[in-house]
Amino acid sequence: MDKIIKIIENPYPIYIGEINAFDFEQFQQIIKAFSQVIIIVDEHTKLYCLPKLMSIPSFRSMKIIEISSGEASKSIHKSIEIWETFTEMNLDRNSLIVNLGGGVISDLGGFVATVFKRGLHYINIPTTLLAMIDASIGGKTGVNYKGFKNQLGIFADPEVVFIDPSFLETLPTRELLSGFAEIIKHALIMDDVLWNMILQIKPEKVLDNSEIIKRAVYVKSNIVNTDPLEKDIRKILNFGHTIAHAIESFSLANDKNPLLHGEAVAIGLICETYISVKKNGFDENQAEIIYKYIRNLFPLYKINPQTIPEIIDIIKQDKKNKNKKLNFTLLTEIGKSLINNDCDENLITESIIFYTNFH
Ligand SMILES: NC(=O)c1ccc[n+]([C@@H]2O[C@H](COP(=O)([O-])OP(=O)(O)OC[C@H]3O[C@@H](n4cnc5c(N)ncnc54)[C@H](O)[C@@H]3O)[C@@H](O)[C@H]2O)c1
Ligand SMILES: [Zn+2]
Repeated sequence: MDKIIKIIENPYPIYIGEINAFDFEQFQQIIKAFSQVIIIVDEHTKLYCLPKLMSIPSFRSMKIIEISSGEASKSIHKSIEIWETFTEMNLDRNSLIVNLGGGVISDLGGFVATVFKRGLHYINIPTTLLAMIDASIGGKTGVNYKGFKNQLGIFADPEVVFIDPSFLETLPTRELLSGFAEIIKHALIMDDVLWNMILQIKPEKVLDNSEIIKRAVYVKSNIVNTDPLEKDIRKILNFGHTIAHAIESFSLANDKNPLLHGEAVAIGLICETYISVKKNGFDENQAEIIYKYIRNLFPLYKINPQTIPEIIDIIKQDKKNKNKKLNFTLLTEIGKSLINNDCDENLITESIIFYTNFH
């Protein structure tokens, strides 16, 4: 891939292609409009992704802020550290923050930019698959607080998003697969054509198939543009996530090598497809294809049946629930889904047992 093309225009442009093939003049136009430009990286994106950005003359003289990789950096303490650096750098409101990294950097960088002096500008250059098709789009920024994910945050759109799939060449396979789980989800909730496309390829091939990334970006941006503040339709993105979030939290608390978010989503997709069959009459043959496809890609996560009540207790604390009803987004057919389904505890238990027994 060498050309860079604009695939979305509003409310902010999203480009896809080789970032250093981007028209030099256009970059200059973007950069020139700002008084200072700061790039936020972690140690991996500094090593693997920054050199490519630095090969673009407009970026060469920019200042860099480096944070440690990992979810622990998505904190209010790290935000304060960055705001101290912003203050030392004398950033004014016309400064631009460039988030070069995965979802941790776009969530944290978007947050620190938006809160400082009531809002600097920021752009996202996502470097993980998850960030390319999910975290960098939709304007949700934030940090974790007191053990709760994304407890402090604000909706604020980036100026522009540049997606360069070649950054994925250095991404560890486990991280790539984790992002792929969200592509599966995007396909199932809204795009049957994308579903048929991914059935044909191995996830590693997503690097050479920007069509898949493009379609997944369309799904996410169509949904968030229709409902930017998550009043209703945006909830369809939660398919698989009610159970996934609980299993992810459970794994974080109990496992030495905890599940990545997308690995938990893969489990949630199987369980919530099962619930869709039982509650919404979703086609059993299609469900069988989904179960097999996901189980082939992701290793089995062993869940002791005795721990299921603990997982259900975590689901009960989910902020998506209303009036004590456990809230689910469920499939009606491939590419179509329905928000605000409630589901009783027995069926959730049954779905988790189904997952652990499915071969
Ligand atoms: N704002 C949203 O709408 C939204 C949506 C989904 C997820 N998220 C958030 O995103 C975060 C997870 O994002 P993630 O999965 O991208 O994780 P991440 O940002 O932690 O990146 C995963 C790992 O890959 C490394 N890395 C990044 N790019 C690389 C590259 N090109 N080559 C080699 N290594 C590279 C990182 O340094 C890190 O070690 C979570 O905090 C989650 O809450 C936000
Ligand atoms: Zn997710």
